[in-house]
Amino acid sequence: MYIVIYGAFLCKTHDKNPILKAISELETAAEIFFQVLQQTMRLKIVQAGEPVLRQTARPLIRQEILGDEIQRLIRDMKETMQDAPGVGLAAPQVGLSLQVAVIEDREETLKDLPPQELAEKDRRPVPFHVIINPQITFVEDDKIIFYEGCLSLAGFSAAVPRARAIQVDYLDEQGEQHSVEASGWYARILQHEIDHLHGALYIDRMHTRTFTSVDNWNRFWRGKPIREASSTPTR
Ligand code: CO
Repeated sequence: MYIVIYGAFLCKTHDKNPILKAISELETAAEIFFQVLQQTMRLKIVQAGEPVLRQTARPLIRQEILGDEIQRLIRDMKETMQDAPGVGLAAPQVGLSLQVAVIEDREETLKDLPPQELAEKDRRPVPFHVIINPQITFVEDDKIIFYEGCLSLAGFSAAVPRARAIQVDYLDEQGEQHSVEASGWYARILQHEIDHLHGALYIDRMHTRTFTSVDNWNRFWRGKPIREASSTPTR
């Protein structure tokens, strides 16, 4: 390679120099190869019933986090979540029992929602970030109930009580330690994703009588007080 470059240098004034041409082709090939390496892929999201969704995921060590495989997985999970679209995606949902989740609540999505709904849910934009080996601490007993969904229970929704505020300690994609105090909708997203890393789904925590298809939620329950849907059977 060294010799080829030296040869090209000697002859660089010649337009049709075959060595220069070969180098240019090599550069193009290297560029394409690099682009292929960087390319992301949409992953298949598994649905309820897949055993992986019920397993406790394995924590990662720093060396693994920095390795090519996990870095690539994170890029692929980001694309998969944005394409779905969703506000969170955990590795077990793409079939991998690893303590990794991606989260993002995009400003573009929120601006199409009624301000009243955003205020009620205490929902604000959350920039894309990765949580690895998260540890959750419940800072207060306050619970709030809202309908939520899951990409692994496609087409369904239910009212789920969740802590209003939590603290989460986690590693980011560089293996750096973070601690976040979250409240409102962001706290709900974190609890939902961290549940996935411990084999739990929202159906384990929901008010069972509120369980509905998303179509029927739109037809019958949208904008109504949640207690109306969850009233208990008389016998
Ligand atoms: Co989910």
